[in-house]
Amino acid sequence: MNNILSLNKVSRSYFVRETLINVFSDIDIDIKKGEKVAIIGPSGSGKTSILNIAGLIERPNSGSVYVNNSEVDWESDKKISNLRKKNIGYVFQFNNLLSDFTILENIAFPLIINGMQKSQAMEIASDFIKNVNLSDRGNNYPNQVSGGEQQRAAIARALINKPSLIIADEPTGNLDSKTAISVVSLFNELVDEYDCSLILATHNLGIANLQDRLINIEDLIK
Ligand SMILES: Nc1ncnc2c1ncn2[C@@H]1O[C@H](COP(=O)(O)OP(=O)(O)O)[C@@H](O)[C@H]1O
Ligand SMILES: [Mg+2]
Repeated sequence: MNNILSLNKVSRSYFVRETLINVFSDIDIDIKKGEKVAIIGPSGSGKTSILNIAGLIERPNSGSVYVNNSEVDWESDKKISNLRKKNIGYVFQFNNLLSDFTILENIAFPLIINGMQKSQAMEIASDFIKNVNLSDRGNNYPNQVSGGEQQRAAIARALINKPSLIIADEPTGNLDSKTAISVVSLFNELVDEYDCSLILATHNLGIANLQDRLINIEDLIK
């Protein structure tokens, strides 16, 4: 098996005003090393719930999750947090970047969290930022750059650690469709270049079709 991620008979439900709402039951998803997968489905179908489980942000109600073929131990917050720091990068639709830090500091952040000295992390980030064509915006704050530039910075931040898996939840949801396609094309090139896998939720079919494989959440549920 060379799966970077496996969800095995995973179920998710929520209590809403004492009523149990079942989002999905017993679904299986395997993501191979280096594979780029789009999760599509209408709003409310469970895309974010799947990504939060895949990204070890939320625990499923039942079922198992495997990262690099070893089962995730949900009882240990410390192990989960180490797995996340070492293996997973995240790109979200909103609130991607820390507003009080410059673009360059944001990109350096995962290195610092992993224990690197700030000066060294900033040096690596100054080099890495070239990948997303933002070298001249590194000293700006997130609110001083465009939405597309913010998302490119978020992509650099997700990739700088060379994680084995990147989770992207509607990463271009607030961009116009032309900018969205160009941001995702660059994202995909970098995912390939750094040998990562990608699981990306979107309701933009153009973006979904750029990925290696497409999973329609409604097919999983039926
Ligand atoms: N924290 C929560 N509490 C209650 N219901 C939730 C919660 N998170 C998600 N849901 C419900 O679960 C379903 C799936 O949501 P979500 O995974 O966010 O879907 P999507 O990302 O496809 O829009 C929706 O019906 C949503 O209302
Ligand atoms: Mg969502």
